[in-house]
Amino acid sequence: MDLKIATLALAFLSVVMIFAGSAEPGVFSVVDGRKTYNKLCRMCHGGKGVSAVPGATDFRRKFDMLGSDRDMFTAIQDGVRGMPAFLGLLSKDEIRNVIWYLRTIN
Ligand code: HEC
Repeated sequence: MDLKIATLALAFLSVVMIFAGSAEPGVFSVVDGRKTYNKLCRMCHGGKGVSAVPGATDFRRKFDMLGSDRDMFTAIQDGVRGMPAFLGLLSKDEIRNVIWYLRTIN
């Protein structure tokens, strides 16, 4: 590998590591969150956050009314009424990533 490519690869890797170690949302966590959303949440909350099931929160319309990250975390982990609990199915990181994705929908 020539030196230029190696340097570029190293620079890219350190950006990835900065994102991975950060408590702030990064590109990668939002992408991971979207994957989780499409797999587990989309059937009720709809493709672009427009609810597909009556009563499921419309993340597009309710964007400003959504709770804090902590409230959403609790809702996802423990469930609320028609909202199933994802405790044991999703790790804390996965829940956090999906919340970051929800905040990008609107
Ligand atoms: C079986 C259908 C269903 C699935 C699957 C589902 N939800 Fe929900 N969700 C609901 C319903 C219904 C509500 C409204 C609960 C209530 O307040 O009565 C809700 C509420 C929520 C809330 C609370 C929103 C607010 O108003 O503060 C969050 C956050 C949420 N869902 C996230 C998710 C995420 C993330 C996933 C995927 C990991 C998911 N949901 C999967 C049906 C679902």
